[in-house]
Amino acid sequence: MAVVPALKAHHHLRPMTHDPLQLLRERFLSAMQAAFGDRLPANPDPLIGGARNPEFGDFQSNAAMPLAKALGEKPRAIAEQIVEHLDLSGLAQPLTENSIAGPGFINVRLAPEALARFLAELDTPELGVEAPAQPETVVVDLCGVNLAKQMHVGHLRATVIGDALARTFERLGHRAVRQNHLGDWGLPIAMVAARIQSLHEAGELDPAALSLDELDRIYRAAQRECAIEGDGRALKIVEEYGAHPKILDEITLALEPGIAARARSTDMLLRLQSGNEEAIGYWQRVYEITMSECLRTCERLQATVTTEHTAGESTYRDELPEIVADLESRGIAAQSQGALVVRLDEFGIAEPLLVRKSDGGFLYATTDLAGIRRRVQKLGGDRLIYAVDARQSLHFKQVFAAAKKAGYARTADGSDAALEHAAFGTVLGEDGAPFKTRSGENVKLADLLDEAVRRAEQAVEEKNPSLSPALRSEVAEAIGIGAIKYADLSADRVKDYMFNFDRMLAFEGDTGPYLQYAYVRVRSIFRKAKSEFDIDPARFEADAADRPAFLIHAPEEKALALALLRFPATLEAVAGHLEPHRLCGYLFDVATSFSSFFQACPVLRAEDDATRLSRLRLCALTGRVLRDGLMTLGITPLEQM
Ligand code: ARG
Repeated sequence: MAVVPALKAHHHLRPMTHDPLQLLRERFLSAMQAAFGDRLPANPDPLIGGARNPEFGDFQSNAAMPLAKALGEKPRAIAEQIVEHLDLSGLAQPLTENSIAGPGFINVRLAPEALARFLAELDTPELGVEAPAQPETVVVDLCGVNLAKQMHVGHLRATVIGDALARTFERLGHRAVRQNHLGDWGLPIAMVAARIQSLHEAGELDPAALSLDELDRIYRAAQRECAIEGDGRALKIVEEYGAHPKILDEITLALEPGIAARARSTDMLLRLQSGNEEAIGYWQRVYEITMSECLRTCERLQATVTTEHTAGESTYRDELPEIVADLESRGIAAQSQGALVVRLDEFGIAEPLLVRKSDGGFLYATTDLAGIRRRVQKLGGDRLIYAVDARQSLHFKQVFAAAKKAGYARTADGSDAALEHAAFGTVLGEDGAPFKTRSGENVKLADLLDEAVRRAEQAVEEKNPSLSPALRSEVAEAIGIGAIKYADLSADRVKDYMFNFDRMLAFEGDTGPYLQYAYVRVRSIFRKAKSEFDIDPARFEADAADRPAFLIHAPEEKALALALLRFPATLEAVAGHLEPHRLCGYLFDVATSFSSFFQACPVLRAEDDATRLSRLRLCALTGRVLRDGLMTLGITPLEQM
């Protein structure tokens, strides 16, 4: 049985000096340890949350109830002992017996000067995010389009989720390496190239004038020509190995090269593999057409995916024979009915991983094994992340296990890199079925983006007719693209979500435009502060030495302050769980807290100078958190809209 080395620990605990919640947890934990010592059960939880009744405090701990049960004492007595040992100096108002409510809730009220101090600590250019003690290299697999196919909503998710994760790692001071694992090699591509060649030779097509739309049609025609659907044998193999449907084309084509189109395809693959110039020429053409459209779409999506980040399946082609030979010679892979498989029973995976077909061809999974080896051993990845459709979960489970078994995930220090599938759900249409056009085709991503921007432009024209046409279309582009991205990123990653233009483009509610608008509001306060009160916005800039003091008194100021203070911990949580929707939810909280604050607390017309300046500083900090958060998601903040 293979030894499974321990995963690399990739969460370095850092002091979170400005998050009161975190600090309260630590203080309560010490009190519990001091009060109960060895009697304390394993993994004690101080159970701290927002106070149920704000009259009694800002936070409450519910730790006494479960602890009482475990220790066989009365909850109130437990609460009293915790309070007795609790040190809240510099953080909250001292506790008394009156702080214990009901059966044993412990109420805590933060000290206003503590909040002011935490806010000041957050109010730096880094916004309280400390550089990691050990920066990691995180390789993020994203985008992953296939040659000769249009990008659709599935690629939207793989691109924006992957990019948002990479941005989050970069924001936290790690090194992110993006990898666009383009589907650009193997039989399906050969099939397309073969059809192009025969149409070209028949004078029916000019490769130089091909568009991606035409390629997409050629792909489907070639599929029909090779009668892929008609063959039950391939499906059986796919089922037997639990393989992803992606390999259906690869296997089917190889099974019965009898008919002419199939023979042409397998022949094309052989010529491609041996570097035949004419064959490579056709392939190259398909590559260029697909890539130029893919890169254009990524750019429009404000996702950092360029040629530099693209390493398609074809870049592994020379490594595959060697990988498979290595697996076979070390007994990691074994023959099975003429094919070569890696058994994964010791990992609790019943389906073996197919790495070479009986005809000698390699598969999607073989390339992913080579990918792990390169990403860990050449690119120095400590953590490999795959932003890929949840329907490929078994594929990644198998590939991760096989890579560990083969030692391909072993880093320089001898531990295994963390291998993680950031699986995402399906985009659904209004009818709850996967999002398709009326005729059942995939919706082109480019069309979706156009439509969102068109609708955004209409909305902007209505709301702000004074914008110049040039500025209007710039703003509309940012709103439309931002709306689509936010709708995608804010949905719980692993769940399916429903695509709905009206909902995602609404200026109210949990949407991209709402967040962009919140930022615009902050900016306009400062324009007004300058023009009407002659207050220089530079006073609130992070590096200005004489920033006015924070005075946090009103409940809405406090709520906003507490929300802002959660920013660094939120970024950590996104990176830890690979869930951009945590940042979306967080920014929405900040925006709504800001809105309540703005309604309840006059800023420019505050009762005195000190309050006005404190509130302006709170606005400035809110603006910087919103801006930073939006940019980390890959959404453009706007000055006006
Ligand atoms: N091209 C693949 C597909 O469309 C996605 C690639 C995902 N990345 C990977 N390393 N397998 O299904």
